[in-house]
Amino acid sequence: MQKEALIHIENITKHFGNIIALNGISLDLYPGEVMCLLGDNGAGKSTLIKTLAGVHEKTSGVYKINNKDVISPTPQKILDEGVATVYQDLSTIPLMSLTRNFFLGREDEILKKFLFLKIMDFKKADKITIEAMKDIGISVREPSQPIGTLSGGERQCLAIAKAVHFGAKVLILDEPTSALGVAQSSMVLKYILQARKRNLGVIFITHNVYHAYAVGDRFTILNRGKTLGTFKKSEISIENLQSKMAGDKTIQDLSDELGENAYNL
Ligand SMILES: Nc1ncnc2c1ncn2[C@@H]1O[C@H](COP(=O)(O)OP(=O)(O)OP(=O)(O)O)[C@@H](O)[C@H]1O
Ligand SMILES: [Mg+2]
Repeated sequence: MQKEALIHIENITKHFGNIIALNGISLDLYPGEVMCLLGDNGAGKSTLIKTLAGVHEKTSGVYKINNKDVISPTPQKILDEGVATVYQDLSTIPLMSLTRNFFLGREDEILKKFLFLKIMDFKKADKITIEAMKDIGISVREPSQPIGTLSGGERQCLAIAKAVHFGAKVLILDEPTSALGVAQSSMVLKYILQARKRNLGVIFITHNVYHAYAVGDRFTILNRGKTLGTFKKSEISIENLQSKMAGDKTIQDLSDELGENAYNL
């Protein structure tokens, strides 16, 4: 039996004035799968995930989470529905501690009463942060250390751990590996697989076809606001995926186009 989709979109369009950023996008995301969203600069990847995350409202089309229509979305409403988005620049505050960043926007969860006041229970918060990070395999020695002291990869992982801890069903990651080296990228890819193992649905946006192919179950290729199709891993080779991303151009085509200029660059 086909599992029920966590996210279902059908014929979504998004216009910014005269610019048509999305032009009839349809896709489904299921629990326990990694769907990679690929495409060149300006293809509409960020616009699509911002529409899913409630930052933009779609111009037309259908958007359902757990088979329920999404009406007048806001980022908070979408998060409450269990769809968490991690942006490349991350919404962390460098000088704040790991724990404070972990509970940023979720302070309610760790308030305790003190006389007539409500204050944050830091001891409990530290413990939860350490546990949640440990759950995805990262050992934190000092939860009070500023998050700015973590590497880019570790920060991405903290954001993933946070989403998993607070019960996200869908994790959307916008180019989480684009600024990272090999070792740090593989750490982030490992945690994407951890999230999948926990039955989350993951939308992973990347320019890097190798990163996508390493963890993806399905691949949707965007081109100028339209999809060039969705492919299962068994249906497409990494070479084909690469050439589809480049608009079906091969390295030879590109080199032919550049002609003798190729040598003068
Ligand atoms: N707020 C906006 N106002 C006007 N145009 C926008 C806005 N956001 C995006 N666009 C346009 O929509 C198109 C798609 O942009 P988008 O940022 O979604 O591409 P992308 O696939 O994420 O590219 P990149 O790989 O460079 O991040 C572009 O032509 C862009 O200029
Ligand atoms: Mg983008």
